Amino acid sequence: MNHFLDIHTTDPADLRAIIDQASAMKRARQGRPKGTPDDDRPLAGRMVALIFEKPSTRTRVSFDVGVRQMGGQTMVLSGQDMQLGHGETIADTARVMSRYVDLIMIRTFDESVLAEMADHASVPVINGLTDRSHPCQIMADVMTFEEHRGPIAGKKVVWAGDGNNVCSSFLHAAGQFGFDLTFTGPMQLDPDPEYVGFARRKGARVTIERDPARAVEGADLVVADTWVSMHDSQSSKERRHNMLRPYQVNAELMGKAKPDALFMHCLPAHRGEEVTSEVMDGPQSVIWDEAENRLHAQKAIMRWCLGV
Ligand code: CP
Ligand code: NVA
Repeated sequence: MNHFLDIHTTDPADLRAIIDQASAMKRARQGRPKGTPDDDRPLAGRMVALIFEKPSTRTRVSFDVGVRQMGGQTMVLSGQDMQLGHGETIADTARVMSRYVDLIMIRTFDESVLAEMADHASVPVINGLTDRSHPCQIMADVMTFEEHRGPIAGKKVVWAGDGNNVCSSFLHAAGQFGFDLTFTGPMQLDPDPEYVGFARRKGARVTIERDPARAVEGADLVVADTWVSMHDSQSSKERRHNMLRPYQVNAELMGKAKPDALFMHCLPAHRGEEVTSEVMDGPQSVIWDEAENRLHAQKAIMRWCLGV
């Protein structure tokens, strides 16, 4: 049994195997109606709980569809509707859920909730986003980059904006997959120093560059994310927007990256804020493939967790 809690805590060989399996499973389904099951049904007879303490479109739908394609069943639960949201401990919830289901995916706020769930569950637990990381997203992102451009090792990825949870998982991936990561954003929103340290210790070149135009020079991939994450207070919105405006990814900025640079965004995007529609809908953008690959990557993650 394997938990999938974070990219930096998962063995690099396992991460590579997950991506390879995701690509193979994607190829095997090419042209097939979305509602039909895979040829092999590795999750037949398995029940998966998807717990959400924050909103979600992609994570919710891609996990649900992925489980069904693999022959399993799902239940989608809102944290607020569970006793979890009304005082029952995470540990007790984990113990009880483990008696009913074979796998738990949880999207929550503090990463300590995820850790406590994993510590007390006797079934695998998957991180569907916390305030501090979003590993399933970045597995899909690595898969998407490689689908379009080949191995990501040695490439230059530029993160523009807030050094948030998704940026943290990119730093983990830089260390584990061996690519360089340049962060460009205001000092107040720098990436987590612990994770910058992790990536550097693993041999990745991590650069902090305040000037976005200089940051994107030679970039193979430019990535943006919302300026106000779900865990950020709405009262900080104006201050964050003012700090982040110079880091908008627009056609002018993309024009300074490599001519074949890709653009990614985990979505949901705020068009005209962190990225312009011109870039989102432009020829360098692979955001819809990126969203689709959540499905394939997570199917492979679930198989790895369950050893099936
Ligand atoms: N990218 C992502 O996780 O999207 P959702 O919040 O819609 O799940
Ligand atoms: N950084 C964003 C990602 C959403 C998928 C958030 O945490 O809200």
